[in-house]
Amino acid sequence: MASSRVIVLSGVNLNLLGQREPEVYGSMTLDDHLGLARETAKREGITLEHVQANDATSLVEAIQKARGTAQGIIINPGAFTHYAWSLHDALSAFDGFVIEVHLSQPQAREAWRHTSVIAPVADGTISGFGRDTYPLAVSAMAALLKH
Ligand code: DQA
Repeated sequence: MASSRVIVLSGVNLNLLGQREPEVYGSMTLDDHLGLARETAKREGITLEHVQANDATSLVEAIQKARGTAQGIIINPGAFTHYAWSLHDALSAFDGFVIEVHLSQPQAREAWRHTSVIAPVADGTISGFGRDTYPLAVSAMAALLKH
């Protein structure tokens, strides 16, 4: 079977993982998380590509490019989660699977983090699992792609 192409999107401030609020997000860098994600992806026959951006426009462009060429998107939008309707609409126009991920558990944090404008256009959400978040998201994507 040909390998599936999945795009991992990282939004605003995620380039600072490892330095930023380690008591909330842990000490692993974004590259560390991607390394774990890639290990799981390899086992599942998934090819991962990654884009990180601190602006919503670049993420919208990456989602548009994924249309018809990628089978899934795993997205941690960072704070864009809570207000970026442009990402909601772009994902809505994407024909593959979408998994929303968060390292922390937004529902257990400030009230403004309790709304996700991404959740209504995601097949599922993985949040609060720290270092296991990305491997779990890749496994969930593999399950969606198989069934
Ligand atoms: C986050 C949660 C968001 O509320 C926050 O703005 C982030 C990171 C997470 O991974 O836990 O930047 O998406």
